[in-house]
Amino acid sequence: MKEKSKSEKKRSSISLVYLFLKHYIAGNNRYGIHSPFVYNLLTGCIYNKTLPGEFQAIEEQRKKLEKDNRTIEINDLGSKKDKEIEVVNKHCRTISGIAKKSLKSRRQAFLLYRLAKYFECKNILELGTCFGITASYLSMARPDTVVNTIEGCPQIAGVANTVFGSLGGMNIRLHVGDIDELLLPVLNDPGSPDLVFFDANHTKQATLSYFNIILGYIKESTVLIIDDIHWSKGMEDAWKEICSNDMVSVTVDLFYMGLVFFRKGLSKENFVIRY
Ligand SMILES: C[S@@+](CC[C@H](N)C(=O)[O-])C[C@H]1O[C@@H](n2cnc3c(N)ncnc32)[C@H](O)[C@@H]1O
Repeated sequence: MKEKSKSEKKRSSISLVYLFLKHYIAGNNRYGIHSPFVYNLLTGCIYNKTLPGEFQAIEEQRKKLEKDNRTIEINDLGSKKDKEIEVVNKHCRTISGIAKKSLKSRRQAFLLYRLAKYFECKNILELGTCFGITASYLSMARPDTVVNTIEGCPQIAGVANTVFGSLGGMNIRLHVGDIDELLLPVLNDPGSPDLVFFDANHTKQATLSYFNIILGYIKESTVLIIDDIHWSKGMEDAWKEICSNDMVSVTVDLFYMGLVFFRKGLSKENFVIRY
């Protein structure tokens, strides 16, 4: 197994707290924002926790997963294109351990739901399903929403399928396999995505590779949500490169995740927002 390169290693908790404080001090709330698009996004969605939604059943599934001490064999998929990272590392972990560490929190999953609802997203793509908690939140955005979600570890995908079965997630299509191989066929099937959530392989190379492929399929209204943009130096470099891409107009840095917009008529700007 190859060692992760230094820039791809998760930052220490102390560095993350320092960066968070820096973000908080430099960041704006809605009152410092002059862009009507971003101001409306903040008031109507990001800070608007009153948007209706019924998440009790999903949260009960989360609780069950967090108490499930069964062990499963997992494949940690690194990007095959990234020679600095291990390709596949097989080991055993408990379902509860994965659930506590890898799933988006209730707060973040609810924000993803609000974004999908606010932008009236029908065609959603999630990279990295894990046990399907966030996919389930996203699937509730509107009755005609379809969520395509890709998971590389068959044992994890098996658990996600049980979760979807219990929740009746009829509008979720789980694709099992490496994103490197499945991204193109999945994008080709439903056509331009309205929303893509990047939450799989948190490396610079994989993030930029997925971003560049997805660029060929976006429409003006597509929104990309990239998780953990400050998690490592590599992820931060990827975020900066995405922000400076010519096709991108507005970006919003919420620290835990970054939002990317392609809308024309908006001045190119990165908004650092306290959330
Ligand atoms: C952080 S978890 C996703 C959590 C999920 N979005 C949620 O909040 O409910 C990341 C998942 O991505 C999967 N993954 C990582 N690299 C992948 C790859 N190259 N192809 C497919 N799946 C991958 C992992 O197996 C893991 O289950």
